[in-house]
Amino acid sequence: MYTVPKLTDYSLSALDAAARDLLSALDSEAAGVNGENEYKFFRDRWMARKDGIATQINELWLKAAPKEAKRDAGQRVNELKTKIEAAVDATLERLRNGTSAGRLDAECIDITLPGIRRPLGAEHPVIRTMNEMVSVFRNLGYSVSEGPEIETDYYNFESLNFPPNHPARDMQDTLFLAGQEKKALRDRLLLRTHTSPVQIRTMEKLKPPLRIVIPGKVYRNDPPDASHSPMFHQIEGLAVDTNITFGDLKGTLDHAMKAFFGSSVKTQFRPSFFPFTEPSAEMMVSCFICGGSGRRGSEPCRPCKTTGWIEILGCGMVDPNVFEFVRENGYDPAKVSGFAFGMGADRIAILKYGVDDIQLFFQGDVRFLQQVG
Ligand code: PHE
Repeated sequence: MYTVPKLTDYSLSALDAAARDLLSALDSEAAGVNGENEYKFFRDRWMARKDGIATQINELWLKAAPKEAKRDAGQRVNELKTKIEAAVDATLERLRNGTSAGRLDAECIDITLPGIRRPLGAEHPVIRTMNEMVSVFRNLGYSVSEGPEIETDYYNFESLNFPPNHPARDMQDTLFLAGQEKKALRDRLLLRTHTSPVQIRTMEKLKPPLRIVIPGKVYRNDPPDASHSPMFHQIEGLAVDTNITFGDLKGTLDHAMKAFFGSSVKTQFRPSFFPFTEPSAEMMVSCFICGGSGRRGSEPCRPCKTTGWIEILGCGMVDPNVFEFVRENGYDPAKVSGFAFGMGADRIAILKYGVDDIQLFFQGDVRFLQQVG
């Protein structure tokens, strides 16, 4: 790198030679500058008031010159300072033009190209089914309640009248969390197998009368196939008041099915069993695909397996043993009664949208979601 020499010879030819060396260094360094940091270094190296090259030639070439050479040396030093300044300015100019030209290139927009379309999202068919069903019950004065998907044995089973080792627990293929063996049974964590634990959780918080719907995800240890998924969705309902009867249960659910599927559907109740309801029932709705005839033209109706009826939910009157767990909060089984129901949202969505495989709901294939969304 160029350094300013001390002069011993102040003849015109020696001065000119020193000036030529300096200018060629100035030229080649200026040409090598790329970018802001390099420019600043270059500018300071040549022009810094303290010890820049322009200052140095003033000291070493002019001030140090013998009297008789001052004039010639001063003239050259002044010329060189002007050239240094010009070179620094020109370098800055060159960088600025370069950047703005590059920027213009990048910003150049071809306004004749078609615009970018942002695809509109749509509600997932299962979520939409849950929202629609929830709004049917909202219109009846129900509010929405929610609870955790990781649940304790107590809320998922014990408080719902499944005693420890009760064979009814086998009805649920439960996914347990690992490493819970040291805890008392009721504190062990699991993935909730139904939305029913939210019944107890809500009754612990709110006093009767109570009318709630509970939409949410539930989990069972089922291998995935066309009609099973280890994760699926339920919509639960609970009504508690004085003098709630099985007639209220039937009237409410019959109305809800007509509001959801259309006013021509019929409902039918068949005896069933759940540990937390007594009596318990399964509700069937007349097949809204074939209108209850069991046939579609000359073809057998597959969704109802030609029976004309589709099982849609489990329900029943809240078992007094369940109220015992929340008796302290106003749920004395001698004073209040209630009904509960639970339905599978995915199954209803499958029927409603004519989907033949539950897996399609959860694979996230946009082509599928575009068809039913
Ligand atoms: N929890 C039950 C199930 O998952 C459904 C149900 C809810 C039945 C409420 C009766 C009352 O199968």
